[in-house]
Amino acid sequence: MKALLPRRFILFFLLFWTLWVFYRWLATQANKRQSCSLRMDSNISILLWHWPFGHQFELDGDVCWERYGIPRCHLHNQRSQFYYADVVVFHHNELKNGTQKLPLDLCRPPEQKWLWLSLESPASNGILYAYNGLFNWTMSYRRDADIFMPYGELVPKKTTKEYIIPKNKSFLACWVVSNYVTQHRRSKVYESLKKLIKVQVYGNWAKRPLTVKELLPTISRCYFYLAFENSEFKDYITEKLWRNSFQAGAVPVVLGPPRKNYELLVPPNSFIHVDDFESLDSLVDFLKQLASNETQYRSYFKWQEHYEVKVYADWRERLCKICTLYQKPLNKKVYHNLHAWANR
Ligand SMILES: *[C@@H]1O[C@H](CO)[C@@H](O)[C@H](O)[C@H]1NC(C)=O
Ligand SMILES: *[C@@H]1O[C@H](CO)[C@@H](O)[C@H](O)[C@H]1NC(C)=O
Ligand SMILES: *[C@@H]1O[C@H](CO)[C@@H](O)[C@H](O)[C@H]1NC(C)=O
Ligand SMILES: *[C@@H]1O[C@H](CO)[C@@H](O)[C@H](O)[C@H]1NC(C)=O
Ligand SMILES: *[C@@H]1O[C@H](CO)[C@@H](O)[C@H](O)[C@H]1NC(C)=O
Repeated sequence: MKALLPRRFILFFLLFWTLWVFYRWLATQANKRQSCSLRMDSNISILLWHWPFGHQFELDGDVCWERYGIPRCHLHNQRSQFYYADVVVFHHNELKNGTQKLPLDLCRPPEQKWLWLSLESPASNGILYAYNGLFNWTMSYRRDADIFMPYGELVPKKTTKEYIIPKNKSFLACWVVSNYVTQHRRSKVYESLKKLIKVQVYGNWAKRPLTVKELLPTISRCYFYLAFENSEFKDYITEKLWRNSFQAGAVPVVLGPPRKNYELLVPPNSFIHVDDFESLDSLVDFLKQLASNETQYRSYFKWQEHYEVKVYADWRERLCKICTLYQKPLNKKVYHNLHAWANR
C-alpha cells in the first residue's frame, strides 16, 4: 500500500503538468492575437484622452506648429486614433474623481507612452497606488518630471523695455484668495498679519472677486503681494508668484517651499520669504521700511534688467511641449511607484 501512494502522486503530477502546459499554450495564442503595434508615421501623435478639468479648447489645424513653432507634432482628442498615438495623455483630476477611466481594456502598443498629467500638489492628487506600473512619463510642475511644466518662468528679455514699477501704490499688502481653508498655514499667517497691518483682500472669499482684466491693475497698486501657496511642497510655486506678483509689479512675499527652492527659479533678491523672519513683527517692520525707501524697494525689480516673465496657462502649449522630448533618443520607462514619485 505504502509504495503505491507515490506512484499515484506522480500520475497526478503528470496530468496536472500537461493541463498547465496546454493552458499556457492557449494563453500565448490568445496573447498573440491580441498583440498590437503602433501605426507610425513621420508625425508625433499626441492623444489627449479627456479634457483637463472638463475645459475644452480648439485643436483644429496644426496647433503646435502654428502657435508654438513645434513641427511634426499632432495634437488631437480622437480616441478612435488610439493605435496611432505615440503618446496618450491622462489628466489626473478626472481619473481621481472617477469621471474618466484608463482604457485598460484596449491592447496597448508597447511603444506607446502613457503620460500622467497633474499640475496640482500632492495635497490634491490623493492616493495614486492604483496607477503604479501604468505610466511611462509625467508632466508636472516638478522639476524632475519628464516634462517640467512650471506655472511660469523668467526668460531672457527680448525688448529693451525699462523697469515697470507702478508708481501709484496705495496699499502695503494685498492678497487674492478664493479658496480659504482655516487649517492652511497661509490662513493662519494671514490672520496674524492682519492684526499688525492692513491687508487688502480680494477674491471670492472676501466677496470682492476680480475679473481677469481687473486683476493686474488692482494688484499693481500694492507694494507687496502675499504669494501664499495653499500647500507647501517641493517646486510647487504657482501663478501667485509669476502673474499676481511679478506681472502686476508688486514684490512677492512668499509662503511655500523653502527659499532655496525659489532661488532655483528666480533671483534671490526678487522676493521676500515669510520664513526669512523669526517673527511676523519683524517681517512687518521690514515691509514698512522697504516701502518707505524707493531705492531699496526698486532693487527688488532688478531682475527686469535681464528677464521678463512668461506665464504658462494654455493647455495646448503644455501638450505641444511633449514633442520636444522626441529630440533625444528615448529609453523605455515605467513609473512602477507613481505614488511614491508624486509624493517625494
Ligand atoms: C470631476 O471633475 C470634473 C472636472 O474635470 C467635473 O466636471 C466633475 O463634476 C467632477 N465630478 C465629480 C464626481 O466630482
Ligand atoms: C504630418 O502633419 C502635417 C501637418 O499637420 C500634415 O500635413 C501631414 O499630412 C502629416 N503627415 C502624415 C504622414 O500624417
Ligand atoms: C491713483 O490711485 C487713485 C486711488 O487711490 C486713483 O484715484 C488715481 O486715478 C490713480 N492715479 C493713476 C495715475 O493711476
Ligand atoms: C534708502 O536705502 C538706501 C540703500 O540702502 C540708503 O543708502 C538710503 O540712505 C536710504 N534712504 C533713506 C531716506 O533712508
Ligand atoms: C510603458 O509602460 C508600459 C506599462 O508598464 C510598459 O509595458 C511599456 O514597456 C512602456 N513603454 C515604454 C516605451 O517605455
